Amino acid sequence: MKKFDYNRTDIHIRYDQARRLPEKTMQLWLESISQHIPKDEVKTIIDVGCGTGRFSKALADHFSAKVYGIDPSYKMLKKAKSSILSPLVDFIQCQAANIPLCDKRTDMLFLSQVFHHIHNKDNAALEFKRVLKRDGFLCIRNSTTDSLDCYIYLRFFPSARKIDLAKLPSRRELKNFLHGHGFKLCTHTIVHQVFADNFDEYLRKISMRALSDLDAITDEEFQEGLTRLKKYCQEQKSQEPIFEDLDLFIFRLT
Ligand SMILES: C[S@@+](CC[C@H](N)C(=O)[O-])C[C@H]1O[C@@H](n2cnc3c(N)ncnc32)[C@H](O)[C@@H]1O
Repeated sequence: MKKFDYNRTDIHIRYDQARRLPEKTMQLWLESISQHIPKDEVKTIIDVGCGTGRFSKALADHFSAKVYGIDPSYKMLKKAKSSILSPLVDFIQCQAANIPLCDKRTDMLFLSQVFHHIHNKDNAALEFKRVLKRDGFLCIRNSTTDSLDCYIYLRFFPSARKIDLAKLPSRRELKNFLHGHGFKLCTHTIVHQVFADNFDEYLRKISMRALSDLDAITDEEFQEGLTRLKKYCQEQKSQEPIFEDLDLFIFRLT
């Protein structure tokens, strides 16, 4: 599968607006995490593949912890640095497989929608083991092939769905991979999150094309799908929020 490089796109410009999580959704994630990871056990976090830092500051504030947001994309990091000014958060340009931080100093690694983008997963897993303290936590928020049917937009973009099927891990693959690298699964839950407050907002967010699967398809495929999605959204009578499922895995280094 071809590597998706955020430096070769202009997604960073639209990312925050198109992928903004409502405040209550962010709270839901933070609480789902700290339900399993006691706040007082976390003083240092690495937000791996932090992108524009959507979670970096929220994690720092929630856990009162030092957060290192790491990402290979200078474009995504530039956005992060311009919007997040906190003494608790530092950003570093690097790959997950090569983290310029000391051995055994980190209490928690957090990866949101990053796992499937990492090409050298074995080296990244070794690096996670190096930087994590003994009993440290690895927290993964990711879509999986098991959850694809809950994404409404994928019904209208079959080529994007095909890309996701090839690229995303299944729940079982992700668990087996990390188990094979010495991580013990503490919990796996499916978080039912609000993605948009109504269909107008849903259409607006999808039409910004800030999702990597939509960026990877042709312009023609995107326009065709968008026309059909627009018709669908306009036909919906409900003003209820639109939910999506995402998996949350919490592992501990044994
Ligand atoms: C979908 S974005 C997620 C950003 C952020 N975690 C969030 O949830 O908003 C994926 C990010 O993973 C980064 N990424 C890709 N390959 C990576 C790697 N090998 N190591 C670390 N981050 C990587 C990309 O540059 C991009 O910023």
